[in-house]
Amino acid sequence: MATNSNFEKYKSGGTLLGNVLEWVDARFPATSMWKAHLSEYYAPKNFNFWYYFGSLALLVLVIQVVTGIFLAMNYKPDASLNAAGLPFAFASVSYIMNDVDWGWLIRYMHSTGASAFFIVVYLHMFRGMLYGSYRKPRELIWIFGVLIFLCLMAEAFMGYLLPWGQMSYWGAQVIVNLFSAIPLIGDPLSLWIRGDFVIGDATLNRFFAFHVVAVPLALIGLVAAHVLALHEVGSNNPDGIEIKKVMNEKGIPLDGIPFHPYYTVKDIVGVAVFLALFSIIVFFMPEGGGYFLEYNNFFPADPMKTPEHIAPVWYFTPFYSMLRAMVWNFFWLEAKFWGVVAMGGGVAILAFLPWLDRSPAKSIRYRGPIYKTLLGIFVFSFLVLGFLGTKAPGYLVFGQAWLNGDVIAQALTVYYFLFFLTMPWWSKMDKCKPVPERVTWK
Ligand code: HEM
Repeated sequence: MATNSNFEKYKSGGTLLGNVLEWVDARFPATSMWKAHLSEYYAPKNFNFWYYFGSLALLVLVIQVVTGIFLAMNYKPDASLNAAGLPFAFASVSYIMNDVDWGWLIRYMHSTGASAFFIVVYLHMFRGMLYGSYRKPRELIWIFGVLIFLCLMAEAFMGYLLPWGQMSYWGAQVIVNLFSAIPLIGDPLSLWIRGDFVIGDATLNRFFAFHVVAVPLALIGLVAAHVLALHEVGSNNPDGIEIKKVMNEKGIPLDGIPFHPYYTVKDIVGVAVFLALFSIIVFFMPEGGGYFLEYNNFFPADPMKTPEHIAPVWYFTPFYSMLRAMVWNFFWLEAKFWGVVAMGGGVAILAFLPWLDRSPAKSIRYRGPIYKTLLGIFVFSFLVLGFLGTKAPGYLVFGQAWLNGDVIAQALTVYYFLFFLTMPWWSKMDKCKPVPERVTWK
């Protein structure tokens, strides 16, 4: 393994590799970057399972970019009809699936990759909440993260229009129409986004441009900023302790170990398990029971036929439930507007977490019962909101029993916001355990 000392050995050894490295180093900070970000980046030695998801998110990003490039080679962003009466965009996806060599694999990797991205990122964000990773001095890492999450949502939403299926079309119609609820500028704004009075060819073309160029560029830039900010302050850990507080005489944290080779090797284990699970989905259940690829999207977009139940893909459904939960007109503004506020606010409020949390301990290991209980209810509420968002509004029938899904969604939306808004009080009141000086590690 090429650790730091190996680099120095190569360079002074007079070998071809050593000479090339020396030549490059005189022109580009190759060795110094390797040291700063890998072989001499000291990460806490107590990383656990939850620390796999950052590197997995990077892996999924690469999978999406690479498969996306190959899809773009055969996909056509064109809503007009071909000789068979099918929209070119829809037909080009069929062509990729049936006629392009390995096209089915590339497409299923990309569509499964979208869901995998959200699974990994939701778990990654949850880790932040478990260990208080958003707290000082990591506020910017978290804010970059929230921006990444927003970009990811935009990327997934615009990508979903591209196959030009029924759900692509009607989903986009519903979501873009929401903008018209904004007072004064709403109607011109949604018209401006669509480029037409209804979702059409102009919308498809601009969504394609955003999906393949603009948003991925923003995403990659934000991920670079996210990791640079992390490496500036150093990683948090399951104990929520700053390892830089206890250094040896060389200025190396006593509880730190070089990221490479220790965590590069550990992350390979995560990658192997992830790829095994990912392959099972791609090869055996790429539709994910209608959750990863909705059945209605196997029919071409038909502006004359609205599907009976329009539901977004699972990763949007918690926020979609918040949107639907708002059924009251407040002041002079209609319910739809408040729905948009709830949905947007649900994401935006995450950005304030570093300043809402006033607990003396960062990690859940040393926090009191209030945090543990309220976080548990928060996770449960988020999952139930997600479930309700996949169902049609109204009553849920379970055999003989029934429940009013709308009322449940309203109550859970209120809980979601109260969890954050009241956090400054309850996080201070909570009875925390004393936080140790050094990380605990068995
Ligand atoms: C494309 C999406 C993302 C990628 C590729 C990514 C990548 C990474 C990587 C590689 C790490 C270091 C390894 C680790 O701690 O697991 C990290 C840490 C972190 N990420 Fe992300 N991330 C993404 C999205 C997010 C989002 C959406 C948030 C939160 C809103 C977030 C919050 C954090 C925080 C707080 C840390 C520091 C964790 C700690 O030190 O305990 N990330 N991220």
